[in-house]
Amino acid sequence: MEQKRRDLLKTFTALAGGLMIPTGGQSQIVGQYKLPINNGDPVDLSKIINLFDFEKMAEGKMTKMAYEYVASGAADEFTVRWNRQAFDALKINPNVLNDVSKLDTTITLFGQKLAYPILIAPTAFHKIMHPEGELATAKGAGKAKAIYVVSSYTTTPLEEIKKVASESLWFQLYVRDDKEFTKNIVQKAEELGFRALCITVDTPVSGARNRQERVKFKLPDGLNAPYANGAFTQKMPLTWKEMEWLISFAKIPVLLKGILNPDDADKAIKIGASGIIVSNHSGRNLDTVPATIEALPRIVESVNKRIPILMDGGIRRGTDVLKAIALGANAVLVGKPVCFGLASAGAEGVTKTLEILRAEFEMAMALTGRATIASIDQSLIWK
Ligand code: LAC
Repeated sequence: MEQKRRDLLKTFTALAGGLMIPTGGQSQIVGQYKLPINNGDPVDLSKIINLFDFEKMAEGKMTKMAYEYVASGAADEFTVRWNRQAFDALKINPNVLNDVSKLDTTITLFGQKLAYPILIAPTAFHKIMHPEGELATAKGAGKAKAIYVVSSYTTTPLEEIKKVASESLWFQLYVRDDKEFTKNIVQKAEELGFRALCITVDTPVSGARNRQERVKFKLPDGLNAPYANGAFTQKMPLTWKEMEWLISFAKIPVLLKGILNPDDADKAIKIGASGIIVSNHSGRNLDTVPATIEALPRIVESVNKRIPILMDGGIRRGTDVLKAIALGANAVLVGKPVCFGLASAGAEGVTKTLEILRAEFEMAMALTGRATIASIDQSLIWK
């Protein structure tokens, strides 16, 4: 049993951590560093009309290994498809003749004002997508006035990202059994001015990442994820107790990311979480869990407005954002689309991804007769 668990953890480290074999605290990176194909190519962004266009463009510009890493999900990818299909299956029940000449898309989350309710979800290894990596993501987010949740699998140190960021940054964390490491990185993020922590709670072991296995995914030589080493070679299980411990010393809001079960949402509130993120890890961990938009209403009911609820998974259209908010999310996060924007055109691609989604969301608000976020409610969903 012990052996089996260790093997599983090793597989995850190899797949998600880029073959970082723990060697007394040092990363050992195996493989050949190859720049993403997009390096230096001229890009015509006028051809990009929607987020699906970006995925197509990105596929042509990324190495196969990088594309497979970003685009894939676990096993048969039912959940990946359901994340999209569940949004498509929801019909909208619009109102006409409301005054929508002025739209207010602003929201306040944990005392922070957001220009619109869309954040950049944490995703790993941005330098496999674009040579400028997380720096381009931060610049693109700043220009689009969106919060960027930096992954603890970043290929750029946090202080460098902070230097180029003009908007709020949040930090995603995989909690480690090395408590000192965990505490240090939380404090580092706090000192650098990161405004919230998103703790991933849905990944005690790897999912069956078949597509990543087929391309033998690993971080190219020369790239490093400075905070990832050993993340999945835990000796101690990660439980509610560790979450309580973390919340006890964190000075910034702590959100638990990866909640699908209403009972877990309730527990999260009871241990003092400031928020939750309804997420199925983009279908990358446990295949055949439901679409997040399907899981959302039960969680909204259980949380009953006690804390903010964010959600991610499958958002590609402004109408998806509208539907998520109608069903009770305070805000949404987008992961894969931002990676494809980044791979296509660096910071500019990230900005354009967010701008397209925001513009479509505003159109959806106007076309449903909703001038404010607060007026987007359940009655918008066709029953
Ligand atoms: C992934 C991990 C790193 O989804 O969160 O690949």
